[in-house]
Amino acid sequence: MSRQHVDHSDIVRFAEDRVNLPQDKANEYRAQARRLREKLEGYLSEHPDFSLKKMLLSGSLAKGTALRALNDIDVACYISGADAPKDIASLLNYLAERLRKAFPNFSPDQVKPQTYSVTVSFRGTGLDVDVVPILYNGDPSWYGDLVSQEDGSFLKTNIPLHLQFIKKRKEAQQHHFAQVVRLVKSWAKLVKAEQEGFRFKSFMIELMLSKLCDQGLDFSDYPEALQHFFTYAAKSNMREKIVFTDCYSASAVGTFTEPVQIIDPVNAKNNVSRLYTSAQADGIVGAALTAGDAIDAALSATTKEKTVYYWQKVFGSSFQV
Ligand SMILES: Nc1ncnc2c1ncn2[C@@H]1O[C@H](COP(=O)(O)OP(=O)(O)OP(=O)(O)O)[C@@H](O)[C@H]1O
Ligand SMILES: [Mg+2]
Repeated sequence: MSRQHVDHSDIVRFAEDRVNLPQDKANEYRAQARRLREKLEGYLSEHPDFSLKKMLLSGSLAKGTALRALNDIDVACYISGADAPKDIASLLNYLAERLRKAFPNFSPDQVKPQTYSVTVSFRGTGLDVDVVPILYNGDPSWYGDLVSQEDGSFLKTNIPLHLQFIKKRKEAQQHHFAQVVRLVKSWAKLVKAEQEGFRFKSFMIELMLSKLCDQGLDFSDYPEALQHFFTYAAKSNMREKIVFTDCYSASAVGTFTEPVQIIDPVNAKNNVSRLYTSAQADGIVGAALTAGDAIDAALSATTKEKTVYYWQKVFGSSFQV
């Protein structure tokens, strides 16, 4: 591999400057979510029968995989009780109404039901907090029915266990696992902007990289780790079933009929990529092939100009050395 013009350290610099959410921003947004959570805890201590049981930072900010272009803070909210409506529009109105009760210093228009979540907007600085409902029946390990942000269906899953799952891989390859996740997410974001109909959910990217991590792939050289990821996506044709045994045995995993099968590491019955069609799987394979070819070309290019040109095919024109 020719590393003369762009090397691992250049990718590191690009990631720090252009891809990663800066640490001070991450701290600020986490503090914003924490204040909401503590407010709910305060309200709950005085109203123990209140149906909102807990708020928990979820999503990329909780996992440490957020991009610089983060546009909202994901918070899961556990809603208990038989009286919580089961149909999604009513559930969101119910959640909004309860949040307004728990946060009386917010004006009602700062708490707005959206299609599958409720946003809490802050005046002045800060991002909106996107509150995603989880129907909760008191399970001590916090399993519950998460409202899918893709289609509003209920998915039995466990956010704290997801956070633990990702943490384990982050610890196995400190800095590098999370960094490669962010780099691949950044690539996917670029393809999304360029290609109508392209989709590749962050959680799927994280789970695919977790599989490679578990197989012993070394993430510490970014050009190589990226190349590995793209090769894996292309070679598997996105049709290889991905299963983890952190929380259940492989034999507990049933048969699925969907083209892409990346099984939730905390629920053997939940296919995280259930909504992906064959055409969308092919879209990912095609884009991965293109990216893999571009990295190959970058690594064998003889001038700096050509090398940068090929890396820009992967990361866009903001990639500069
Ligand atoms: N299909 C699903 N089944 C179970 N849990 C899911 C599913 N989709 C999302 N989640 C949960 O929601 C969390 C956030 O989802 P996702 O990874 O898509 O967004 P994100 O990590 O916030 O990334 P982004 O930077 O794109 O916002 C996941 O970490 C996971 O806990
Ligand atoms: Mg998110």
